[in-house]
Amino acid sequence: MRKPVRKAVIPAAGYGTRFLPISKAVPKEMLPLVDKPVIQYVVEEAVASGITDILMIISRSKRAIEEHFHPAFDLEAELTTKGRGEELEALRTLQSMARIHFVWQPKMGGLGDAILYARDHVGDEPFAVLLGDTVVNSNTDKPVTRQLADVVEKHGGSAVALQQVPPEKVSRYGILGGQEIEPGLIRANTFVEKPKAEEAPSNLAVSARYVLSPGIFEHLLKTPPGKGGELQLTDAMASLMAEETLHGLRYDGARHDIGNKLDFIKANIHFGLQRGDIAPALKEYLKTLV
Ligand code: G1P
Repeated sequence: MRKPVRKAVIPAAGYGTRFLPISKAVPKEMLPLVDKPVIQYVVEEAVASGITDILMIISRSKRAIEEHFHPAFDLEAELTTKGRGEELEALRTLQSMARIHFVWQPKMGGLGDAILYARDHVGDEPFAVLLGDTVVNSNTDKPVTRQLADVVEKHGGSAVALQQVPPEKVSRYGILGGQEIEPGLIRANTFVEKPKAEEAPSNLAVSARYVLSPGIFEHLLKTPPGKGGELQLTDAMASLMAEETLHGLRYDGARHDIGNKLDFIKANIHFGLQRGDIAPALKEYLKTLV
């Protein structure tokens, strides 16, 4: 019987240089999509996927993330006194979603380095990784992290979420090559971090969600720095692939990378249009712009 996926790691330590100056003091993960920070959508996806324990990897200037998920007894007392039941409920739901822990990544050594800080916490069980600046919407009832956990609980090894990207964009992503064993499920035989378009094994890009075998930690420890002089998770996964299977799952849905200004604005419109309280007025406003 394979171990279920109960734990998740959310890396949220990066500088967010693509979003300066706002990201100097405000973590990009705390930017709002309507009235919730990006990272709350990420936590909600994890919880809807069956995750009960979350470790966030943070750094200097990311304390607002801790505060967001920490109980605020004074604020709760104030809301109780004022009879603001709905807001009180929203705060309490936020704190009861999962057990949330934090660890600091002292220097920016790459995604692989960030994941290594989760080693003791994760122990010997498969775990999900959800990048804290990216919201992924599945077009089906199952969140993408749950779909990956299903693959790992069935086949063992690790699994990553994939999206097709145009050739001119492959050099921005981890690219996976392999054989499609059933519709949308690829057994990987190559995994390369940010290859040149002409050297890429496919146009299937890793898309901010992973479920990893704990075997990854041994490989991270022996993987040398890769692209950009950083310890790349992709390189350690390529090394792990010699021992355990890696599957890629092409999912049906949308990805909003909030570290990117245009995507951030589009995501706010997207989520705004899904919110009954503001959608009609927002639609009317958008019509006046075109
Ligand atoms: C990271 C990973 C890359 C992946 C991307 C999007 O890159 O290293 O393999 O495709 O996230 O999930 P970054 O965007 O942090 O440079």
